[in-house]
Parts: sequence; C-alpha cells; structure tokens
Amino acid sequence: MQHIDTKSHLRGESLYLDDIPMVRGTLFGVVYPSPVAHGRIRSLQLDDALAMPGVVRILTYKDIPGRNQIGGIVPDEPLMAEHEVHFHGMPIAFVVAETDEQARAAIKKIQVDIEPLPVITDPRQAKALGNLIVPPRTFKIGDSTGAFKNCAYIASGRADSNGQEHLYIETQGAYALPLEGGQVRVYSSTQGPTAVQRHAADVLGISMSQVEVDVKRLGGGFGGKEDQATAWAVFCALAAYLLQKPVKYSLHRMEDMRMTGKRHPYSSDFTIGLDKDLNILAYEVCFYQNAGASADLSPAVMERTLFHCTNSYYIPNVTATAYSCRTNLPPNTAFRGFGGPQGMFVIESAIAQIAEQIGVHPSRIQEKNLIRTGHEFPYGQIAQSQAPACWDKACRHFDAKRMMEEVAQFNRNNVLCKKGISFMPICFGISFTKTLMNQARALVHIYTDGSVNISTGAVEMGQGVSTKLIQVAASVFSLPAEQIRINSTNTYRIANTSPSAASATADLNGKAVELACNALKGRLTDMASRILQKDISSIHFRGGQVYVHDAATELNWKGLVQAAYVNRISLSEHAHYATPDIHFDSSIEKGHPFAYHVYGTAITTVTVDTIRGTYQIDAVKIVHDTASSMNRMIDKGQIEGGLVQGIGWMTMEEIVFDQEGRLRSNALSTYKVPDIYSVPGIIDVEFHETDEDNLAIFRSKAVGEPPLMYGIGTYFALRMALKAFNPSGEIGFDAPMTPEKMLMGLYQKKSS
Ligand code: MTE
Ligand code: HPA
Ligand code: MOS
Repeated sequence: MQHIDTKSHLRGESLYLDDIPMVRGTLFGVVYPSPVAHGRIRSLQLDDALAMPGVVRILTYKDIPGRNQIGGIVPDEPLMAEHEVHFHGMPIAFVVAETDEQARAAIKKIQVDIEPLPVITDPRQAKALGNLIVPPRTFKIGDSTGAFKNCAYIASGRADSNGQEHLYIETQGAYALPLEGGQVRVYSSTQGPTAVQRHAADVLGISMSQVEVDVKRLGGGFGGKEDQATAWAVFCALAAYLLQKPVKYSLHRMEDMRMTGKRHPYSSDFTIGLDKDLNILAYEVCFYQNAGASADLSPAVMERTLFHCTNSYYIPNVTATAYSCRTNLPPNTAFRGFGGPQGMFVIESAIAQIAEQIGVHPSRIQEKNLIRTGHEFPYGQIAQSQAPACWDKACRHFDAKRMMEEVAQFNRNNVLCKKGISFMPICFGISFTKTLMNQARALVHIYTDGSVNISTGAVEMGQGVSTKLIQVAASVFSLPAEQIRINSTNTYRIANTSPSAASATADLNGKAVELACNALKGRLTDMASRILQKDISSIHFRGGQVYVHDAATELNWKGLVQAAYVNRISLSEHAHYATPDIHFDSSIEKGHPFAYHVYGTAITTVTVDTIRGTYQIDAVKIVHDTASSMNRMIDKGQIEGGLVQGIGWMTMEEIVFDQEGRLRSNALSTYKVPDIYSVPGIIDVEFHETDEDNLAIFRSKAVGEPPLMYGIGTYFALRMALKAFNPSGEIGFDAPMTPEKMLMGLYQKKSS
C-alpha cells in the first residue's frame, strides 16, 4: 500500500498547522527570547513595545493563572523566565499583536537589563562544578576491573559527538482558540498531544478535560517535537484564554534553531580490553551528556545511552556510568535514536582504537563479538539476536571480502585519493524505556454505510504510521483500504497518550487498532452466523464479502453492518493495549525493558580527496532486520532517510555555540545538512525478513530510529581513509568529521 499522503504531499494539498483556515480576529504571538545565556534579570521594560502599532498585550510570568512550569520529567523549566535566565533564547515574554509582523516589530522594542552570570557550555566543566540534572547512573555486568587483568590488549581514549539540529521542514508552531466555558482548543505541531494538554492545563490553571489538542500531521518531528512543541502551544493557549481571542504562533526558522534544544552532545571516556583471540572481555565507559539548561527528556535520553552502550556486541564485563550535565544551552531533547547513537559512537570508537593498536581491521573485532541469542545485555535482558545473521548476510550478499580487497588495492595505487571501508552493526531496543509509557488506545467506528473511521494516539510525522494503522484495520476487516479513514490525533477522542516516539508508534497504536477491530469483527461474525444460520467458526470476511468456509455468500460487509445496526449491536469499539512482559527495576538497573531488538549491518565505502579534505560516500550497503515488513516502501524510506540523517550528524552538521552560549550555526547558510549531492552514490537496502515471533504489529519490526545509526559507519569509513593516508596522525574521535577536520587530520603529525 502506498503512503496515504503521497498524492496530497506531491500536490501541496496536505494540511499542516499553517494551512488551518484562521478565524477572523486571530491574533499573533511572538516570544521575546533572552539575549544572554545566563544572568539575573534586573529590570524588564515593556512600555515602548506596548506602544507599538497593533500590540494587544505582552504576557510575562506574572500573567500566568496556574503554574509557570512545563518540565516534563523534572519540574525545572519555567514557561517564562522569572528572575533568572539560563540560556540564550529562553522565553522572557510573549507579545501578542494583530499581525505577525507587528508582534515581531514590537519585540525589538523590549528592553531587558540582565546582570551576567558565568556561562557554562561544556558538560565536563558542569560535572566538575556539580551541576547535574539528576544523579548519575551506572549499568554493570560482571567485573570489568577484574577482567582487565586477563586482557591481552587494552585501549583507552575519549570520544566526542556533537549535537544535531532536527530541521523538521515544518517549524514549531501552534494555534489556539478559546471555546465556551473556559475551554481551549489547541492545534499543535506536536508529537505529544497529551504533553501539550497537560502543561496547557497546568499553566492555565484549568483541568485537562478543558483542553482539546488536535494534530493532523507534522512536517517532521524527529524527536524535536516530543517535548519541545509544548512551550509554543502553551503560549498560544495562555494568550487565547486570557484574551478570549484565537492566537497563533509559528516560528521562523532562525527563531526555531535558536530557541529549541537539539540532539545531546556527549563527551565520553572509554577503556576496552580484549583477550588474544580478540574477544572483548571488558568495557568501561563514562558519558558526560550535555543536557542544556533544564532537564527536558535528558534523564530518559541518558538512560537509553546506557542501554545501548554495547551496541550490537556481547561484552561479559561492563561498567557504564552516565552524567546528565546542566549547561547554559537550550535544553537538549529527543532526537531519532534518543541517546542510543551517542552510546554506540563510543563503543565503535573504542573498537576502532584498539583495532589500530593491534593492527587489524575493526571488522574482525566487531564480527567476533556480535551478540548472539541467549547472551545477556548489561541490563539483564537476554538477547533474541539477529546480529550475526544480518552481518553474515551483508558479507555474503554484498561480497564484503571483495569490497575490502578493492579498497586495499585502490589505496596501494593512489595517493591523491584514499578509500575507507567500515562495517556498522546496529542493535536498538524497541519500547519506551519507561515501562508505563508502553500503552496505547484506539477508537474504531463502523458507520452504517460500511465505512470505517479510526482514531488513535499516533501522530503522523511523515513516517507512515497512519498508512500502517489503516493497513491493520483493512487487514482485520478484509476491506479495501479506501473504505477506512484515519482521524486527526485528538485528546478528546483518545486520552492519556504516550508521545509518538521510540519507534513504537505503529506497534502500540497498531495493536490497539487490532484489538478494537477484532472485537468489532467478533460481533459482526456473530451477527453473520445468526443471519446465515451457520457456525461462527465457518464465517470469514474477504474483500468486503462474507464467506462460509471458502464459499462466498449473498451477504456483504455493508449489509452485515446494517443488520448489526438494526439489531442494536454496537458498531464502535475503544481498545487498550499495553505491551506485555516488559519490566525494569532501576534500583538494580536490571530487567527486560524492551519488547524486542532491531538489528542490522551497514557496509560503507568512502573516497577522500587527500589534498582538499573533501570526500564522497561511494556506497552504503545495508541488511536490515525488518522481520515481516508490513509496508516495504515505507520501511525502505525510513531506512534511507534514517541513514542519511545519521550521515549528516556524523559528517557535516556542525552545531557551534560560542563562549557566550550563543548559537552561531543559526541558519541554513551556516549549518549544512545532507543534500542530493552529498548522499551516498549507492544506497543498497536488503531486507532481512524472518517470521520471528515478536511483539511487533503483524511481526513487522519497528523501523523509525534504528537506521539512523548506520550513519555512524560513515564516520569510521572516513577515518579509515584518513588513516590510510596518514597512519600516524593522532586524530582522536570527534564527530562530525567535517571536511575541515578531515583536512587537518590528513596532515596532523604525531605529537611526541
Ligand atoms: N520519519 C519522518 N519522515 N519524519 C519524522 O519526523 N521521526 C523519527 C522516525 N522517522 C520521523 C521519521 C523518529 S525520531 C521516531 S521515534 C519515529 O519515526 C516515530 O515514529 P514511529 O514510532 O511510527 O516509527
Ligand atoms: N524513546 C523515545 N522517547 C521517549 C522514550 C524513549 O525511550 N522515553 C521517553 N520518551
Ligand atoms: Mo523519536 S527521538 O523517539 O521522537
């Protein structure tokens, strides 16, 4: 089945927040952001701004009827600054005017006097000062200290990975309308409608039942709208509630880049130990997460870093510690992979380092240590592993041996260009790491003309979840997909939703749809059995027709639905799904947190221009563990998109904050993302299809985030090419590998 938005996207007919027809009298809001990263507010001068044409009102924290608080996990994030500012871009006031232009002109007239305080942007420095968001956590298996004594090889080092701008095509925004009886309706570009509802209610001082949040679709979220869509929606809701007028705010790109958090940069220290046969015996790692100025989702992101710190490998002795460090940057947040990629970059760095020390290609160590079924992850879950199967298939299918030889031969014969090859196995756990979040609900209506309408908590952000949910209903009812429609995501239809995140949206909401549809199908089967006077077990639906065993009957879907209605049988169902068998005890850091894992292997080849430091990615060849894909086109799109996004993070996307905590890479002229010229020449995707029994919807494994981590392979392929030119250069592990860094590395001398 095609992605249901294909045609309307192509024709520009899909509706986003900015396409919602505005009610007459709609006002426009704009945030006045802090001009400094850290300081104490001495005075705030609003009079000049208030006198500007069209300005209706300027809200500060003093206008908040409820709580000035939007922190999701830790209540440490005011909607608007009170007496202190903690990052450059932190909201101080919200200007409401008759037009967007007037509001933007007015914020230029606001004057604030801020006594500067020290600005910290480095997580290690924050840690040294004791500025932590939450207490550190340690995952431990075996005895790493003892195991190092038995190692033939030991390597230590440091690895740094930078942040990443989400760069959803649709910037953040919201549109709020006051309704009667103190209710508000909020259209929001959010992955988490319930988070918006909860915080809007809290800030307005009203109940959640008074806040309707509605989401049609997003022009991309990538984690950036899991938590950080909330502020803008709450601003609009607050202004709409106080002024009793509709209020809209959609951020300009530079505002969005400046005020919102990004992927967490990490700085990490590692030590890895191998025996003489290249088995990894021990691994110790310490992560310093740059959380930014408030917690946001950082504690959960940090947790997933720990879960994925050994990537796709079995290591019997591991000690991994993580610190979530408070700095004066915009609060960093969820980004595809949710801390997993940052953890995986470090173990891959450790393997690259020790391989170099020993003088073998890292792939020998990687292959030797792939996790197998029955092995235990450091957090206690036992692997049901496809890691060796994906690796072996990649080697066979893409003839890895020949690829390795070609690279070696090229490098023997060339100086002006060097090639590199890397292998990147991945392993990603599917489920929210917080067990309670793994629940979802669906509401399915069958109308008397036989058409079906489904509602869930899933937010469509391009990933194709709406299409998959329609496929679920179509499959259970055996109806053509055109007969099934999916609704906007709305907190009045579906309550208490988890955000659409963790790659689990289709699994959780799909299972709920399946349950609801099966319940309805049960009632309709019963009805058909009464009409046809046949045993229930003999009744089947196929293509909109009712069958008894293999024989079509006169009774069709529509007739059956009408008969059920006439007989006063409910044609609506609300179902609840909660992932079974998952649990985690954070007091011992052990459990079975994931419904299953997704595996895969990417082989990457690159060519570096050794004079200029520029490079091309020749090919990325992937075997990806889809199990039984329910939509190969969508899944392929996710794999290719995730890969390229990962490559961007690892190669060209370079976020730069200056010493004052000001974002320098604040526009697309200074922040480079992959374009059609920089993507791999070849992307080959081979599905690793199994009928493995798993908890995925229709056994079709989640695909949203895992492929991003194939992009890490590009960093290490580039590094191999660099090393082929300059074997003794000490270049460390510092992503992204921009062409500038590449050039420096090519001519870096060994420090003696
Ligand atoms: N694909 C598109 N086109 N747009 C997005 O915003 N978000 C990614 C991934 N793929 C995203 C995407 C992220 S961060 C996640 S968690 C998953 O999709 C969420 O959707 P899923 O749970 O349905 O996979
Ligand atoms: N993944 C993504 N988003 C989340 C998670 C997670 O594990 N937990 C809370 N939000
Ligand atoms: Mo994705 S980072 O879980 O929204």
